[in-house]
Amino acid sequence: MSGPDHYCEGAAVLETGDGFFRPASRPARDCGVLLVRSLAAGAAGGPLRVLDGMAGCGIRALRYGLEGGATAVWANDADPDRLPLLERNLAGLPPGVERQVGTATAQQLLAGCLVAGRRFELVDLDAFGCPAALVPLALEAVAFGGVLYLASTDGRSATGHDRRAALRRFGAAARAHPASWEIALRLQLGLLARSAWAMGRGITPLLSFSEGRAFRTALRLERHPTRGEEGHLGLVAHCHGCGDQQVQSLGRLGRWRACGCPAASGEGPPLAVSGPLWIGPLQDPATLTTMLLEAEREGTHLDRPGRRLLERLRADPASTPRCWPVAAIARRLGQGPPPLADLVAALTAQGFATAPSGVMGGQLRSEAPWPVIVATARGLVAATAAR
Ligand SMILES: C[S@@+](CC[C@H](N)C(=O)[O-])C[C@H]1O[C@@H](n2cnc3c(N)ncnc32)[C@H](O)[C@@H]1O
Repeated sequence: MSGPDHYCEGAAVLETGDGFFRPASRPARDCGVLLVRSLAAGAAGGPLRVLDGMAGCGIRALRYGLEGGATAVWANDADPDRLPLLERNLAGLPPGVERQVGTATAQQLLAGCLVAGRRFELVDLDAFGCPAALVPLALEAVAFGGVLYLASTDGRSATGHDRRAALRRFGAAARAHPASWEIALRLQLGLLARSAWAMGRGITPLLSFSEGRAFRTALRLERHPTRGEEGHLGLVAHCHGCGDQQVQSLGRLGRWRACGCPAASGEGPPLAVSGPLWIGPLQDPATLTTMLLEAEREGTHLDRPGRRLLERLRADPASTPRCWPVAAIARRLGQGPPPLADLVAALTAQGFATAPSGVMGGQLRSEAPWPVIVATARGLVAATAAR
């Protein structure tokens, strides 16, 4: 804090006012700034227009101009009581940065952009609740090669706690799953992908993360889908009996194979199937590397939690949705699990793509068959006990 009424974050000094503001969401704001910086690094002097559609006090919009190098900043919040605050705060933008401040609903704002043919290199929608209704218009407002940075605080429907709402919002089944944040992010990306494909466009997910309250995804809008991109839409099945997980692409959908549950149950495995959702990678390591490099440059500010987050995500591109909490592995073993790092090393040594999940702490992500994971964990625990 630099004074009783002012809050400092990165290069911004501003008033946060009486409305919604969470200092703890700083890593998400740092990521937004670094996404703009990474766009600037590849833009070769082109325009860098940013739309902050649910701006709150305007902290992101201000930082996009001060630290991101945005050439134009549109800051909008539907709450008209916030307008004087937004205007005061955005007066702090550097001279020469084109600015526009408004109080439209995001729907009106984005529809206006479509009518005017206006596009932005980054569209940031930091929504309360589920922004599903905004997705097609938001994608229309993103320039080709630009980024949509979307947040949802609708954890209930995306994590299987309100299945009917998930059907309405995502057109998908959301079931309880041990990697619930991951499933929520993948449902959101699945919706984004289907909307982009319906427009003839493609997407590249750049980063996806959550702290359990907000589910944040950033994607690059591509002029066309890459070959086989539709193969990233699929289903994830979790067996509540034995803990196994299976993944199928919708394009090659077949029967679910038998898992480790006794066949005698006669009804097949008790599978909880979620989807359609995005089953491809969640993170783009190249973009995360550029963001981390940009964070080293003068004029950028990445705090320690933000840096740890980016490094964790870069280390786990999340190419498979199959994730298990180590606690679930321990339950299966009937004793404490081996250290996660040891399990990752042992499964990697057997040739299976494996990593600690970057999305949820204390989780294993692996391509290895579930019986192999359990047997490897058991072997590691036994070897430790024998020492
Ligand atoms: C999560 S807060 C934004 C926080 C801000 N981005 C930050 O980092 O501090 C969401 C904001 O969206 C605004 N809002 C809610 N519904 C909206 C809508 N339909 N269109 C535009 N703004 C909306 C709210 O007034 C609120 O200020």
